[in-house]
Formats: sequence, C-alpha cells, structure tokens
Amino acid sequence: MALVDIQVPDIGDFDEVGVIELLVKPGDTIKVEQSLITVESDKASMEIPSSHAGQVKELRVQVGDKVKEGSVLLTLEVAGAAGAAGAANAAGATEPATPTAAAAAPVAAPASPSTAAAPAGATPPAIPAQQPGPAMTGLPHASPSVRKFARELGVPIAQVKGTGPKGRITLDDVQAFTRQVMSGAMQTQAQAAQAPAAGSAAGLDLLPWPKIDFAKFGPVERKELGRIKKISGANLHRNWVLIPHVTNHDDADITELEAFRVQFNKENDKSGIKVTMLAFMIRAAVAALRKFPEFNASIDGEQLVLKNYFHIGFAADTPNGLMVPVIRDADQKGIVQISQEMAELAKKARDGKLAPAEMSGAGFSISSLGGIGGRYFTPIINAPEVAIMGVCKSRLEPQWDGKQFVPRLMLPLSLSWDHRVIDGAAAARFNLYFASLLADMRRIMM
Ligand code: COA
Repeated sequence: MALVDIQVPDIGDFDEVGVIELLVKPGDTIKVEQSLITVESDKASMEIPSSHAGQVKELRVQVGDKVKEGSVLLTLEVAGAAGAAGAANAAGATEPATPTAAAAAPVAAPASPSTAAAPAGATPPAIPAQQPGPAMTGLPHASPSVRKFARELGVPIAQVKGTGPKGRITLDDVQAFTRQVMSGAMQTQAQAAQAPAAGSAAGLDLLPWPKIDFAKFGPVERKELGRIKKISGANLHRNWVLIPHVTNHDDADITELEAFRVQFNKENDKSGIKVTMLAFMIRAAVAALRKFPEFNASIDGEQLVLKNYFHIGFAADTPNGLMVPVIRDADQKGIVQISQEMAELAKKARDGKLAPAEMSGAGFSISSLGGIGGRYFTPIINAPEVAIMGVCKSRLEPQWDGKQFVPRLMLPLSLSWDHRVIDGAAAARFNLYFASLLADMRRIMM
C-alpha cells in the first residue's frame, strides 16, 4: 500500500480551469481511467480520469477551485506494482492523470433549455429532490456535454437512466427524463393548490434557474444589480408569484381635461408649478376608491382591511430603478398641491433622497408611462395593496359620436387587480367610473 497524489495532466490550450463537479469522494474505490472531477473553461469542459486504481484517501480540491496542469486533485491509496510507483510519489514525485481525447473535446452549445424544459408560460413541474450519497456512488456515465446539458436544465444526472452503450447517459436520456417530469406537472399543480394561501412561496418547488455560459454565444460583460433594483426586484417577484393578477384595459376620453390642463398651466406659468395629468388621475383614483372601497384594501390572513384613508403611490422612474413615493391624504389636497408634491417627491426619488416614510402607507398606486409612450401594459400590484392603475400615452383617435367619427384624445388605462379580493365585474366598473371622472371632472364634486 502506498499513497499517490493524482495531478491535473497536460490539458492542452487551457491555462487554468474551474472545478465544476467532483465525481468521487473519500473512501471510494476507483478504477484506472475512472473520471475523478469535471473541469470547465470558457470554451470546453472535460473530465479528468484517474491514472491509478485505488481508494480515495483525501480530496484536495472542491467545486469552484481553479486548477491547472500539476495541481493535485486527490490522494489515492494504491496497491501492487502501481503502489511501488506510488511509493516514489509519496516521497515527493507525483504522477499526472491523462484526460481522454474524447473527454477533452470542446462541449457543443446545448439546445435552449426552455425548448426542452417547458413552453413559455407553462407551470414548471417539480423535479424530485436530488439524492446525494448512494446515488453518487454508482457514478453515472455521461459525456461532459451531456452532464453540462443536464446541469443547465437542473436535471439530477444521477437519477437519469442511461440507454447508451454500457449504460451511458445520452442527450436523449436527459430529454426523456425532463419530459417524464413534465408529465407530472398536473400532480405538481395539485400540490401547489395545497400550498399556503399567502405570505409564503413554499411549495412552488420550481426548476432551478438555467445556468448558461453566455460567452459561448458572443461577447458579454457583467454588471452588479443596483441596490434599489435588488430590493424592488425581490418585492416585484414575490408580488407576481403570490398575487393572482388580472388586468383590465379601457380608455378614458381626456380631450376636455387636457385642454383645460394646458390652458390652466398657461394662465399660471409664473407660479412655477406645472399641473400634470397624473395629479388629476390621483384625484380621480380617490373618488373611485370611495365608490369601490375593496380597491383600497389589504388582505390580512382571512380578513380584509378596508382603509379609511387615501394615500396614493405613484411609480417614479429613477436612474437607480423604480421607486414608489406616496401622496398622503390625497383626498384633502387640490390638484395644484398634488402636482407640487409629486414634483418634489419625484425629484427626491431621482436624487436618491426619499425617506422610507415617503414611500410607505399607500392604499392604491398609479404607474404612468404617459410621458414615455406605449399603449397598454400589465402593472404588478404593489403588495399589500390589491390594485394598481397603469396609464400609457394618450393619443387622438376617431370616436363615433352617434352620427360621425370625431377626433378625441384617448388615454389608455390598464388596471391590475388581485382576484382574491376583487371580481372582474367590479374591475370593469372601476375602470368605467375612473374614465368617466377624467372625461368630466365635475363628477368628482357630485
Ligand atoms: N399621455 C400623453 N402625454 C403625457 C401623459 C399621457 N398619459 N402623461 C404625461 N404626459 C406628458 C406630459 O404632459 C409632459 O409633457 P410636456 O413636457 O409637454 O408638458 C411629458 O409627458 C412628461 O411628463 P412627466 O414629466 O413624466 O410628468 P408626469 O406627471 O406624467 O409623470 C412621473 C411624473 C414621476 C410619474 C414620471 O416622470 C415617471 O417617472 N414615469 C415613469 C413611471 C414608471 O416607470 N412606471 C413603470 C413602473 S413598472
């Protein structure tokens, strides 16, 4: 018995490569040519086979390490003639393994995972949890490209049945495994139905995010997501996943209101305050919330909290990402005051100076892309609110007045609402009422 250090052999063009998979563990008895680890460069992945048979005493690398020719991978206890050679190694000399030509071949870019995994918009099924230990001891035989393909799909390769020569796992086997799991989607949906009603995403059991080496397809650069993007992204994701959103689209005729707004701003251009369409929408929202109180509410367990205050959030586009400042007590403020506060809050948001209190407490929000463009969109509800009004750019359109088509300035509305609290009929009525207020703001006083 002697100890041998197994080293990375000459790996051709690659200077340094990353360890992406350990295929053996201490205590394993391995054969000559058995794969020990998988390494990956930006161009290829390869398995490093063992130059000796024996028992693994110690692993000297872990996943994520960078290795190059000569790096020691593991210490092996060997017997017999190999042991004699190994004895010399144990005294200092080491013996590199030799990667097989096939294993060192560059890995072809895999097919898009989504084509094999799930059609866009389908509910991804659960893949059975990977079973470490016993599954890993019966080392699955698969080429580096097949392993990589499986990894990108999140397929636990140890659970795939190989149909190739000597039980080797082929690309078809990985795809067949994915199809089989997909067919269990109905069962997964039944499990999801038993998941907690709110406040937790537990039970979704989704496929892991595909890990793709984009550099294979062309030059790329990496940039850290900003702090606001990270925070708002996590919130948006939770809201999108946990709230059953529906969006109703409608249009408001703002021909007269816009003419009044332009005229008013002209008359008051020395005041330094520009009255914006969004300020009118905030007042219209207050009136609509009074008429439809379940839109100014939050779910709390099995109760609905109906709010008797009218704080309205508005989405502001800032260089650092999306922020939602809040106009407090909008029901007690006039259009000019709302316009002025909105301008101040939007500026603070863009300068990164909004205080947390200025972004909290909203009962309903409006997201206006009117200054930018677009027709309709599906805004994501800002939980714990239950509805959000999205607005796009108004444009002149022919409208039938009963006798003829006349040009009218139409504002596209997109109201997203939480179907646990609000029904489609109420949402359609809310939009209709909101649009009627913008068409004739005198209704607000009624
Ligand atoms: N239709 C046509 N024009 C519109 C409009 C609409 N619905 N809404 C605004 N405009 C016009 C304005 O009249 C103004 O024109 P003017 O300069 O000739 O007077 C121009 O667009 C710019 O308006 P803006 O400065 O954006 O004011 P606003 O009150 O409409 O919006 C903010 C203020 C802070 C909401 C806005 O600047 C913003 O950040 N919008 C993006 C919100 C967002 O990112 N939402 C997506 C979330 S997912």
